[in-house]
This record gives sequence, C-alpha cells and structure tokens, in this order.
Amino acid sequence: MEKMIDDRKSLDRRTFVKVCMTSLSVIAANPLTLAASTEGVRSHNRVLLRKPDGEPVTSSWLSEHRSAIFHYPYVTTPCFIIDLGRPVTAPEGSAWPGGAGPGSSIVSYSAICAHRHSYPTRSASFINFRPEQITYVNRDDAQVRGRELIYCCSERSVYDPAAGARVLGGPAPTALTSIMLEHDPETDRYHALGTLGKEQYDVFFEKFAFRIALDHDRENIREPARDAATVVPALEYSTNQVRC
Ligand code: FES
Repeated sequence: MEKMIDDRKSLDRRTFVKVCMTSLSVIAANPLTLAASTEGVRSHNRVLLRKPDGEPVTSSWLSEHRSAIFHYPYVTTPCFIIDLGRPVTAPEGSAWPGGAGPGSSIVSYSAICAHRHSYPTRSASFINFRPEQITYVNRDDAQVRGRELIYCCSERSVYDPAAGARVLGGPAPTALTSIMLEHDPETDRYHALGTLGKEQYDVFFEKFAFRIALDHDRENIREPARDAATVVPALEYSTNQVRC
C-alpha cells in the first residue's frame, strides 16, 4: 500500500535526494530545501524503467523517442516519460523537482487527464505530447501558440510539461500527477519512485474498471507496479493518436 512520504522513516535519505534531483551538498547546506520538496509526494514501489527488449531505458533512447508510455504506480495506470531536449528547472518554491537525467530534460507525468480522465489505450490516445507548434485557448480565453505541450483533445486541456504539467488551458482543474524519477548517472538507469500532486487513480479505476480489465487482460486492475515497467514509444503504443 502506498503511504505518504511525510511518514518517510522508510525512505532512505540517499534515495530521497535522488528523487528531488537535487545535489546532496545543496540539501545538506539548506535543510529547508528538503522540507519544501516533500510536500504532496507519495512513495510507491521503486520500479526500473526498461525498453520493450527488456534492457534498461537509457537517456539516448529517451532522446530518440521524445515521448513514451509506461504504467506506474499500478500496472494499469499510464504515464508519459518525455525528453524535452533542454534543461528544465523547477520554479522557485515548487515541490516539483524539475527535469532528470544528464541534461535535466527528462520529465514524467501521469497520462490520465485531470479533467475527465481520458488516457492512452492501445487503440487510441486523445492525450498526447505535442513537440510541434500548436494553437490552443489559454485560461484567459485567448488563442495562443506553444510547443512541447501535453494536449488532451477530449475537451482541449493543455498542460506544460516544462513546469510540472500545470494547466495552461481548458477545463482541467489541476496539473497532471508528476511521477518522481531517479536517474543513476553511473549506469544511466531510470527508476520511478513515487508521485507528486493530486492522484487521480481511485476515480480512474471506478470509472473505467471494465475497460481497464479488458485492455490489460487482468482481474486485479489495482495491482501495484513492481520491479520493472516496460516503456513503449508513444507513437507505437497507441494505434491512433488523436491530434487537435
Ligand atoms: S478528459 Fe482531457 S480535457 Fe476532458
């Protein structure tokens, strides 16, 4: 069972430092940084991200594919892992840690839309990472352009993956849930460790139980991800990517 990291006796300090993608020296020098970073974080199983061939995902593989899908913290809950191709730093005071990996460019979020929980399936995805320039309506009802955004074409919610997936436009009430990543610079391996922000899983399971069970051919749709999760390039994961 998941539990809040506030009760984080079991969370080893070294792992936590990696979660926050913050150097040990900075944390040691400024304990307030550590305290601020724990807000809203939930620990889940530490899960290795691996490619479809079974080998661990590497930074160059992520860079090649830009956007990919894996399932975490449950075996049925889809997430994006995205290489934004540029360093992504957290806004000041944010609990979101910014980008991971050698270029601080790798981010990961739940792919379950915070509005009505549209999510990528093998047949179709209405919510996608859009590296190209797109036009959307922002929260001031102005038509604006942007690139490298996550766009849900169900009701046109737009999220900024370079800023903790905050909502830029559309009816989504909250940001996408962040997936906390650990990157080991020696092995270039990535692990998922937990989530940050509002989780949507209970309502997702209630709403789509039958479909999820069919899609994944399993009865226990709430099975936690353990040990390893397979990461599939987004363009290969869904047969139809709906782009608006
Ligand atoms: S489900 Fe994504 S915008 Fe409505």
